[in-house]
Amino acid sequence: MCKILKKNIAVFASGRGSNAQKIIEKQNELSYKVVLLVCNNKNALALELARQNGIETLVLDRNEFYNTGKIISDLKNHKVDFLVLAGFMWLVPSYLIEAFSQKIINIHPSLLPKYGGKGMYGMNVHNAVFLNEEKESGITIHEVNAEYDKGKVLLQKKIALEKIESAENISASVLELEHEYFAKTISEWVDGKFKD
Ligand code: GRF
Repeated sequence: MCKILKKNIAVFASGRGSNAQKIIEKQNELSYKVVLLVCNNKNALALELARQNGIETLVLDRNEFYNTGKIISDLKNHKVDFLVLAGFMWLVPSYLIEAFSQKIINIHPSLLPKYGGKGMYGMNVHNAVFLNEEKESGITIHEVNAEYDKGKVLLQKKIALEKIESAENISASVLELEHEYFAKTISEWVDGKFKD
């Protein structure tokens, strides 16, 4: 992969950052370069991971994020082309969605539109899937608009749930899919594969 063709991405994460880790690990063989890790939680493992990999970090202040446009200049300073939400728990404000129109991607641990929307994150999703005795679950990778989990779907991958015995098992299987497909899909997306 020729370095000059790579697109700069900022990864937004809030917690343990296992998806961020895969995205960072795979960047050498793919079309993007992680130039910034943005986090809303100063104690998140995702931040530590970025530092260990020599990636610059930005810790968000809630008031500043929602009431000023300062992050736009931070992203410009790092020459960020695309934003990747990898377990980022805050709603992206509309000014940021407008500034990066069709340039924000998210991964969700269910087959949207099922189990999406406010409050549907992490184990809340998998518990609901399990309690409803769904026959399948999976991942959805989608563009981000101003409503939670409602942007254009780019990729879905499914797992069958017949033999699964707990919400924790669903979570583990879904996470495996995330780790397998997110980095590759980001790469194809920044290359324009999903353009209409
Ligand atoms: C993932 O399941 C992702 O789908 C969801 O939040 C979780 C983040 O996990 N949006 P991690 O922080 O990447 O390990």
